[in-house]
Amino acid sequence: MKNSERPIGVFDSGLGGLTVFKELRGLLPGENLIYFGDTARVPYGTKSPEAVIAFSKEIASFLIGRKIKLLVVACNTASSLALEEVRRISPVPVLGVIVPGVDAALAVVQHGGRILVTGTSGTIKSRAYSKALAASGSRMQVMEKACPLFVPLVEEGWCSKPVAAAVAREYLLPFRKKKIDALILGCTHYPLLKKVIAGVMGPRTRIVDSARAAALAARAELAGRSLLNAGKRGRYEFVVSDAPERFSALALRLLGIRTGKVKVKRF
Ligand code: DGL
Repeated sequence: MKNSERPIGVFDSGLGGLTVFKELRGLLPGENLIYFGDTARVPYGTKSPEAVIAFSKEIASFLIGRKIKLLVVACNTASSLALEEVRRISPVPVLGVIVPGVDAALAVVQHGGRILVTGTSGTIKSRAYSKALAASGSRMQVMEKACPLFVPLVEEGWCSKPVAAAVAREYLLPFRKKKIDALILGCTHYPLLKKVIAGVMGPRTRIVDSARAAALAARAELAGRSLLNAGKRGRYEFVVSDAPERFSALALRLLGIRTGKVKVKRF
C-alpha cells in the first residue's frame, strides 16, 4: 500500500467526533478513514486528566497499529488534556481540534474582540483554548463557559426540542449582553446545537465550528507532506469499545451517517 493510501485515524470519546468525521469525509472524499469511538468510557468531559490521558494513549496505540498516516484527536476534552502525551508515542503526525478552532475564531474576530469558549467541564477547566488564544499573540478578551448538559441532550437526539433552547438560554443568555464577537463550539457535540446556540447569542455573534476547522487543518497537514489520497472514494471503518448497534443507530439518526457493520475493540 502506498503511504498516501493509508487511512486517517480519528478518535473521540464516543459518537460526537462523527461531526469531525463528516467534515473530513466531505472535504477529503478520497481518504480512507478509520473512526474509533470510546463508547465504553464516554463521557470524558467529567473524567480526571489522568484517565483521559490513559484512554487516549490506548486508543492512539490501537490506531497506530492500523498503519494510519495521520491521527486526528476529534475529542476536545482529549485534545485539551492528552495531545502532548499522544504525540510523544506517535510516529505519525497528531492533530487536535483546539488550535484549528482557535485559528477559525481568529479569522473572524478583529483585534481586541471578545471570544466565548464553550466546552465540557474538562476542556474549560484545562483552559486549553484560552492558552492557545494567548499563545497566538492576539489580544482577545476570552471568556469560558462549561455547558455540561449539552452532551446528554445531543445524545438523546433532543437538539431541536424546547428543552435544548431552555438549557442554552440558562448557560448563555448572560453572555448575550457582553457583546461576544465569536463563540467557539469547543466540544464535538455542540455543532449539532449550532442553531439553538446562535439563536440565544443573537446575530452579532459568529459561531465557530472546530470540526470544520480540524478537517481543513488535516487537509493542509497531508498536502504539506504530499500524503493526500485523491482518486476513488475512500473506505470507512468504524470501531467502538462497546454497544456497536447503539452507535450505529445514533450515527444515522443524529448525523445521517450509515456506518455499516461497526466493530468492537475492548481495552
Ligand atoms: N467528545 C467530548 C468533547 O469533545 C464530549 C463528550 C464527552 O464528554 O466525552 O469534549
